Amino acid sequence: MVQPLNIRRVAGALGAEISGVDLAREQPDEVIAAIRAALVEHQVIFFRDQDLSPAQQVAFGRRFGPLNIHPYVAGMAGHPEVMELVKEPGERVNFGGGWHSDMSFLERPAIGSVLYAVETPDFGGDTLFASQAAAFDALSPGLQHTLEGLRAVHSAAREYSSKGHSAQKRQSMSVAEADGLVGEFVHPMVLVHPESGRKALYVNPAFTMRIEGWKTSESKALLDYLFQHCRYEGFTCRFNWRPGSVAFWDNRQVWHFALNDYHGQRRHMRRVTVDPWPAPATAPRDRRAAQPVS
Ligand code: SIN
Repeated sequence: MVQPLNIRRVAGALGAEISGVDLAREQPDEVIAAIRAALVEHQVIFFRDQDLSPAQQVAFGRRFGPLNIHPYVAGMAGHPEVMELVKEPGERVNFGGGWHSDMSFLERPAIGSVLYAVETPDFGGDTLFASQAAAFDALSPGLQHTLEGLRAVHSAAREYSSKGHSAQKRQSMSVAEADGLVGEFVHPMVLVHPESGRKALYVNPAFTMRIEGWKTSESKALLDYLFQHCRYEGFTCRFNWRPGSVAFWDNRQVWHFALNDYHGQRRHMRRVTVDPWPAPATAPRDRRAAQPVS
């Protein structure tokens, strides 16, 4: 019989550390189901002292869904699903250094991301997480109701264009400039989690461009308010990495932010990103964005 997971919460709004599981080994379905349940409940889960090869990280990620191949960031040779997030001592720009939800700019955004620490700085380089479920819960019933009727337009243009944060020149990662390539897709501003039924805000400063059908100035006013609200300290937790640490977050209910406070030191992480299972054959609602109202 499989033992229950050993789970210790790390903060009030989200986050839990799980011990006693070796992610390099193929785990029984019951353990994977328990990890999945912990992810849904705690929104981000952490593991320590793991020893994962790229192939083992891929195998673990695939238990939760098909893995994404990033459209702009080159994957590892031989493992295109594995992104190597490296900042060398001489570099100033990091990857993921602003609040965001991974891949919300895609038509079918990633459901989760599994990040493994290969090499960590002696100090700094923590990752912050913010519960967008807690952020939704804290709004008034009136604003909750309004947001539940709205959709927002997401795009990679701001982040991955030639002037974007992620596309800035770097020696250690190959990030393509997305100029002219990106689409725009709309997503509900409030997601109902398919497994828990819990509601969460689904807009983020990196990839949300505007509210569908609103003027740019109107969108900006409401989005600026939400972006400020969503990062309130009481909705967050913070993870301090060691080599072998793993964080697995649920992009449908969590923002994250890679702190860039370790210049002069090396940080090397590997990420796999879990896509949703393929959609059923019935035609989905059109997620392409209409042009903005000027
Ligand atoms: C990311 O996936 O956005 C990077 C997170 C990190 O490196 O801490």
